[in-house]
This record gives sequence, C-alpha cells and structure tokens, in this order.
Amino acid sequence: MSNFAEITLEGKTYQLPIVIGTEGEKAIDITKLRDMTGYITLDSGYKNTGATKSAITFLDGDKGILRYRGYPIEQLAEKSSFLEVAFLLIYGYLPKAEELKKFVYEVTTHTLVNEDVKKIYSGFPVNAHPMGVLCALVSSLSAFYPIPTDIKNTEIVDLTIYRLLAKVPTLAAWTYKNSQGHPVNYPKNNLSYAANFLHMMFSLPVEDYEVNPVVADALDKLLILHADHEQNCSTSTVRLAGSSHVTLYAAIAAGISALWGPLHGGANQEVLEMLEAIRADGGNVKKYIEKAKDKNSGFRLMGFGHRVYKNFDPRAKIIKKACDDVLKALGVHDPILDIAQELEQAALNDSYFIERKLYPNVDFYSGIIYKAIGIPTNMFTVMFAIGRLPGWIAQWREMRLDGEPISRPRQIYIGEKQRDYVPIDQR
Ligand code: CMC
Repeated sequence: MSNFAEITLEGKTYQLPIVIGTEGEKAIDITKLRDMTGYITLDSGYKNTGATKSAITFLDGDKGILRYRGYPIEQLAEKSSFLEVAFLLIYGYLPKAEELKKFVYEVTTHTLVNEDVKKIYSGFPVNAHPMGVLCALVSSLSAFYPIPTDIKNTEIVDLTIYRLLAKVPTLAAWTYKNSQGHPVNYPKNNLSYAANFLHMMFSLPVEDYEVNPVVADALDKLLILHADHEQNCSTSTVRLAGSSHVTLYAAIAAGISALWGPLHGGANQEVLEMLEAIRADGGNVKKYIEKAKDKNSGFRLMGFGHRVYKNFDPRAKIIKKACDDVLKALGVHDPILDIAQELEQAALNDSYFIERKLYPNVDFYSGIIYKAIGIPTNMFTVMFAIGRLPGWIAQWREMRLDGEPISRPRQIYIGEKQRDYVPIDQR
C-alpha cells in the first residue's frame, strides 16, 4: 500500500502522508494541507476527523471492541478494580502490587476537602442540578489547591491527580446531601473507593449504615465501564481546554459541563425518566418506538445509538448482565427493567433501528442499576463523571506530555461580505 494519498486541486496534485495505527486504523495526515494548497477540510461533528494520536483506548465500533491500554473491557470489568484501572489508564501499564498500594493510599488519603468548600454549597439553591454544582466545585479546587501548569513537574501533577480522584466523589456526595438538607458525611478512609462513596451518600447521623458489598462491587464495575472512551465529546473538551495550558481542575470542569448534555452523559438520566414515563403511560412500548421513528416528534429513544458503535456497545452487554445480577442479589423486582427489555427487543426487531444500526448503549441499563442501589435520578450523570475521571485525566496528561499545540480549528465563513455601518435612525 502506498504511504501517501494524492489529492488534485485546481489541476495540481499534492501528496499527503498516510498514518496507520497499531490496530490498522488508517488516516490521511492533513497537517500541511493548508500551507500546501490553501484549502482546509470541513467535517462538522468530526465524523471523519482524527483529532489526535492516542495510546490510551482502542475501540472498534463495527466489531464492538473496547480496550483500555490493550486490555479488553470484559477482562477489566471482571478482574480489576476501578483504582487499578485508573492507574492503568493514566500511567499506561498495570501496576505492580507495591505501586497499586501506594496509588490507593495516595487517593484514599486525599479524600477530605478544605472546610471552606462547604460554604460554597450554601450559595446554591437546594434543587440545583448536581452536575452544575459539581462543575462549579471542581473548578473551585483550583482556588483551594493552586497548582502550576508545568506538566514536567511530576510530583505536582501526580498530587493533582490524587486530589481529583479522591475529592470528586466527596464533592459529589456532598452535593447530594446538600440537596437533601442533610449534614454531609466525611470520608472514611478504611473503606474502598466505591464503598466510601456509598457511605458519604447514604449514611445518616441518626442510624447505622453498612455498605452492602454487592452494591459496592456493582458500583466499582460501573465506574470501570465508564472510565474512558477515547475522543468523545467531553474528553475532546478536556483535551481542547487543556491545550491552552489551563490547570487540570479547569480542564476537568470543562469536561463535566460537556458530559452533562442529554446526547452524551446526560442520557442516563433521560433513559430512566423515559422508562418511567412509558410506565406511567400504561407501558405502551410500541407507541414510543413509533414516536422515536417520527422525525417531527423531537423524541429519540434515549440510551439507543452511538456515534462509533454500529454493531453493539460492549459496555451495554456487561451492564445488562450486571443489572440482572444486582437486582437478583438485592431481591429487587423493578417493572422498569421489564419495560427496558421489551423496548430493547421491539427496537432490535424494527427496520428503522436495524437500518440505522441503533443498539442499546452504555446508558440504557446503567440507570436501572443506579436506581436499584438508591442513587437518585438527577445524580446519574454525576456517577458517569466520577467514572470518566481517570479517562479525562489520562487524556489530558497524554496531550500535555506529547506537547500538543493549542487546539484551534478553522472555519469556512458563510456570513455577510464587508458592509458599512448604518446609523440607528437609518435602519
Ligand atoms: N432514537 C431514534 N433515532 C435515532 C436515535 C435514537 N436514539 N439515534 C440516532 N437516530 C437516528 C437519527 O435520527 C438519524 O436518522 P436519519 O438518518 O433518518 O436522519 C440516524 O439515526 C443517525 O443519527 P445521528 O444523530 O446522525 O447519529 P450520531 O452519530 O450523530 O448520534 C447519538 C449519536 C448517540 C448522539 C444518537 O444516537 C442519540 O441521540 N442517541 C440518544 C442519546 C444517547 O443515548 N446518548 C448516549 C450515548 S452513549 C454515552 C456516551 O458516551 O455519551
């Protein structure tokens, strides 16, 4: 195969290098295109644009493959832990026992946040959406823990990574407590990452609370499944914001904002609300399938479809099984699960969804597990953010260490040509 592509523009032929990834993905390197030809490329939504080279996550949407640093998601979900996966994503290799012990220790011993952070909560309305609050609080960490933006300062970078992984669950749980008008729970460092989060969420001063290990395991698995997903909307936002050399806290806050949207991480909240609405409407699944197919309805089947997966979402497969296991272990029968299964079957057999290759995505079943373990619906996307944190951090770190330039796309201007200002009385 030739190692360059040829492009002919206005009668002149140019050669552009071909780049091939370790899994055989092919790209045309257009870095010099504008300099050589005066042309740029146009690709709204970046459906054909590789924004970077990355060694973190590989996914093949046609085959339904997802691997972190080469390790299949199925193996990691079954055998690893969230903090081990975080280490793997960020530093690129599976840690030795001593390295993992140190990493877990560092993350565990940074879970407290500055007491003054608590004052910020009182400024928010109690019914504020937790994603808005979390975003503001993560941003505020750059005020409480100011850091230089020097990526070569390994000690500071690592400390910031520990702080973020440790403090985001504390901030998230406190956001929930604040919305309930309940006192916050301080972290308990003798608990695992997931168990500590559950303690901070659900423990009350008036009664004993013991973390159910089934619930903690399920949560840990969910976090692993969400930990990275290469250049999606929020991750690209983190990389883009980070490319201006803002602090890691600010870049992560930008990612949290991008994740919130209903077409991205916000879909998990929307899925559950949709399933509840179908139930309240008599459980008529067919009606909602028809509505999703009607372009004038403005309704989409939430939790269905994916920009990259056009066969199945491997995370959805694992989550569906985890959902069955958790509900069984907790002895919960949720009629919402029946509706979800009916909806899935109806969609998978409908030509509209088949032709467009729309399958359940990671968000379709995750909400049912969250609901079963007591997480309120408006916290679902916050759970996604906690899970995605290592991925965002890993991608930010890779981008900075690779010395990527500031991200600055171009555009094709389609507005008015030059015209003269018209005084207000003559318009
Ligand atoms: N329900 C009904 N129709 C759909 C859906 C859906 N959920 N998703 C896509 N379509 C249709 C869409 O109308 C279009 O039809 P046509 O070709 O006739 O115009 C076709 O399928 C292609 O859709 P698209 O919007 O061009 O595809 P995209 O790659 O730009 O969007 C998506 C991907 C995930 C935004 C979209 O499938 C969607 O909105 N899904 C529902 C929201 C959702 O579940 N999001 C979570 C994604 S997974 C978690 C994450 O990583 O964020």
